[in-house]
Amino acid sequence: MYEIIGRETLVPNNYLFKVEAPAVARKAQAGQFVIIRIDEKGERIPLTIADWDREEGSITIVFMEVGVTTRKLAQLKAGDFLDNFVGPLGLPSHIEKFGTVVCVGGGVGVAPIFPIARALKEAGNKIISIIGARSKDLLFWEERVREVSDSLTVTTDDGSYARKGLVTEPLKELMEGAEKVDRVVAIGPAIMMKFCAKTTEPFAVPTIVSLNPIMVDGTGMCGCCRVEVGGETKFTCVDGPEFDGHQVDWDLLFARQRIYLDEEKHATECACG
Ligand code: FAD
Ligand code: FES
Ligand code: MG
Repeated sequence: MYEIIGRETLVPNNYLFKVEAPAVARKAQAGQFVIIRIDEKGERIPLTIADWDREEGSITIVFMEVGVTTRKLAQLKAGDFLDNFVGPLGLPSHIEKFGTVVCVGGGVGVAPIFPIARALKEAGNKIISIIGARSKDLLFWEERVREVSDSLTVTTDDGSYARKGLVTEPLKELMEGAEKVDRVVAIGPAIMMKFCAKTTEPFAVPTIVSLNPIMVDGTGMCGCCRVEVGGETKFTCVDGPEFDGHQVDWDLLFARQRIYLDEEKHATECACG
């Protein structure tokens, strides 16, 4: 059993949990994820490791309430326990001194981009960050990301704060600008990652995305997280979650993300009772 030792509502529908999991905290690296199960009847869901504290033995996860399991999770309080908390899973982010790296985080993707930007900064890179949210009240961790970045641009879709528009707009300007960009890392909704990759493709700037297909076991056994990258089948949980965004078959990812839509809708309706 894994105790929730801290809980925060970051913005409406987005929550931060600090979970006591010393074995996971000892090994966690940027880019990896955990698979959690609330109780013995619950389903298993993957959540990215947003931060860790090796001394305290804790892992921070940030999640958005989208369906039955994340709704149940959001109802838990500090002092409650999770039945399962397996990790760290997946390959860590590739961290080295590339030069100038643009880190793009959208929505709840701002949380997983933070430890990657921090690790890349520690490796000596210049970090240009772009984070975006639908509106001001859904934006979180601006200061955290700023602290590990050489510069930060914030966008909101509705213009309620900072620059109005999508994260791809400042990304395109950077691609067209005078400064050489050596790498882009983008994490957020699949559609955002697709368009970040489409934005950088004409400029041939390597662009890493963190894919989020449906997962079950997280160990390469069930095949549920199958994606296609560069014409090859990959299992996101063991071969990823990070891949070359220019090589991803996005349409297949979108289709596979939706395969249980009817069941998820039904489960949500039943749970609402
Ligand atoms: P449901 O109503 O069951 O599903 C809503 C949508 O979520 C589905 O249409 C599907 O696209 C997706 N989903 C459903 N079940 C799964 C599953 N078992 N695995 C993956 N996706 C699923 N979300 C966050 O908010 N924060 C994170 O840090 C985060 N990290 C992730 C890391 C990875 C490697 C992956 C693959 C996904 C991550 N997700 C993250 C997405 C998160 O797992 C889903 O939002 C969650 O499983 C939805 O469960 P639900 O029962 O609440 O919603
Ligand atoms: Fe089962 Fe990846 S989640 S193979
Ligand atoms: Mg579900």
